[in-house]
Amino acid sequence: MKKILKQFCESLFFQAPSLSVVTLKQHFENKTILITGASYGIGEACATLLAPIQCQLVLIARSTDKLTALQKQLTQQGQCQIEIISADLYQPTAAEDIFQHLKAKNIQVDILIHNAGKSIQRSVWESLDRPQDIDRTIHINYINPAQLTRLLLPDLKMAQGKVVIVSTINAKLFAPPLWSNYQASKTAMQQWILSIQPELAAYGVSASLIYLPLVRTRMIEPTKQYNQMPAMQVQHAAQAVLSGAIHHQRQWQPWWLPFASVLSKVFATPIYYFYLHWLKRKQN
Ligand SMILES: NC(=O)c1ccc[n+]([C@@H]2O[C@H](COP(=O)([O-])OP(=O)(O)OC[C@H]3O[C@@H](n4cnc5c(N)ncnc54)[C@H](OP(=O)(O)O)[C@@H]3O)[C@@H](O)[C@H]2O)c1
Repeated sequence: MKKILKQFCESLFFQAPSLSVVTLKQHFENKTILITGASYGIGEACATLLAPIQCQLVLIARSTDKLTALQKQLTQQGQCQIEIISADLYQPTAAEDIFQHLKAKNIQVDILIHNAGKSIQRSVWESLDRPQDIDRTIHINYINPAQLTRLLLPDLKMAQGKVVIVSTINAKLFAPPLWSNYQASKTAMQQWILSIQPELAAYGVSASLIYLPLVRTRMIEPTKQYNQMPAMQVQHAAQAVLSGAIHHQRQWQPWWLPFASVLSKVFATPIYYFYLHWLKRKQN
């Protein structure tokens, strides 16, 4: 019964646009698509969907072994060319290093997908001696993606290209306690993009924010309560991300998010007291 209910919820609330190979071919053929965080999860699923298309993929992550294996597997199966770049987006020079690598190889990016992400669930009281929690999330989720976008904008302008940002539904909802660093870094990127969206569009570059709900990837594994909850399949999340590069939508969100967003504003005070009560109970 529980399983059926979960499946029902997933089919109702966790669906994404479906993309045929023909559609993918129409929009990605002969393009160069850079995907950060391509070694696992949603980034890997995006690369796998694009592999049958004749295109160039630039895959970025820290796990070089995983990227090399993926490169081998996808080039054997598909028609794409793959360039891998090992980079740690926590490092202050990561965006510049990636940019220099692209220039050295004469790679011009048409579509830039900011997917790499760092999520941390931790109380601020448990972070008193962990300055790296703020540093990590802000560098991986905001500073380096923004810097890389800045560096690639001349290329993107020339290509009339696209920027896609993988965000979270929480960026439009009541900021939940214990997720302060993730929430702040994701909303920083959201605000930066919302502000430059018209500036980019004026020069023919589109930017699309993808607000994903819970997605079944290794990112959610450490949060035990998520195991039993309904979630989006990783392939569906990848389809939502790629649909951002296909349609000139400024955002993609689940159909119910606008309602949830209004409710979270209307009920902000009860939600605050609900969390306060919950946190006090947790202490005891
Ligand atoms: N899963 C969800 O429920 C969910 C919901 C909403 C939004 N999102 C967003 O979706 C995106 C993808 O997440 P996912 O669920 O696919 O997670 P995932 O399976 O953990 O994959 C995260 C990817 O980011 C890369 N990455 C992490 N830290 C990095 C760093 N310092 N430098 C370079 N690359 C790094 C990882 O590669 P390496 O470890 O090899 O570096 C990996 O390829 C994230 O932006 C996340 O915030 C996820």
